[in-house]
Amino acid sequence: MIMTESYLSIDHLHKEFPRRGDRPLNVLGDLDVHVEEGALLSILGPSGCGKSTLLNIINGLDDATTGEVRLAGRKVSTRTRSDVKIGVVFQQPRLLAWRTVRNNVALPLQEMGLPKDEIDDRVRRYLALVGLAEFADYYPLQLSGGMQQRVSLARGLAIEPDLLLADEPFSALDEFSARRLRQEFVRIWAETGKTILFVTHNIREAVFLSSRLLVITDRPARTYLDLPVTVPHPRKPEDDLLFELEKSVTEDFMRMEEQVRLEKEMTR
Ligand SMILES: Nc1ncnc2c1ncn2[C@@H]1O[C@H](COP(=O)(O)OP(=O)(O)OP(=O)(O)O)[C@@H](O)[C@H]1O
Ligand SMILES: [Mg+2]
Repeated sequence: MIMTESYLSIDHLHKEFPRRGDRPLNVLGDLDVHVEEGALLSILGPSGCGKSTLLNIINGLDDATTGEVRLAGRKVSTRTRSDVKIGVVFQQPRLLAWRTVRNNVALPLQEMGLPKDEIDDRVRRYLALVGLAEFADYYPLQLSGGMQQRVSLARGLAIEPDLLLADEPFSALDEFSARRLRQEFVRIWAETGKTILFVTHNIREAVFLSSRLLVITDRPARTYLDLPVTVPHPRKPEDDLLFELEKSVTEDFMRMEEQVRLEKEMTR
């Protein structure tokens, strides 16, 4: 059998953080995930289980303790630069307070060395996409929290990345904006065929968006459930099939938490 390498391979990934006067904090257990190109993979897991840590390692911002991540055939580390264009939408907006909205979105495009016309065009398109066309000349602190998060989403999408790492990008938004942006997000994904890792706490959101869904356990994080979502796009948020799936994933999630709790009690 010929084994072709996945687009993103996470093998035996283990991450611990040293702690003063205590054993290291074991964050990622022994994580194995293989992601095919073009997937929209949602990652669900309890708060503090290591989802953001995982994205940081994939993005080359932090190194694993042991194990490895390979992206498009190359090992990822803090010391190597990937050929893959990676976009990130962090959990917090992380905008530069002294730059206007326009200049926040433009910054990574300038760093890519794009011509000015192209930058202007992308800034305009992606700000319009997140509903902020009129706020291009505002400073971040003149915007609401949800608006700042939308700027951060525009910045992440504007580089038109090959791989997008999105860390709860919609969780700070009101439900109506989130709904609209989810639909746009799926549309962009379907049009571009790029690979997306999408961390969320919202099971309904995960089910609505993803082509595949990963549930990971509490620290140390390992895979509990890895499930394809085959309902074709465009999906309706109120689709019965999606509701059924949401219900069963919610039950799985609760079962997982109970199991982890029991394991912790037994090892105490
Ligand atoms: N740089 C760091 N140094 C020490 N500990 C860290 C560091 N980064 C994260 N941790 C710890 O690792 C654990 C996992 O953190 P992480 O931010 O990855 O969780 P998460 O799954 O993204 O949680 P949430 O859903 O709440 O965002 C936490 O206990 C956190 O305190
Ligand atoms: Mg996080």
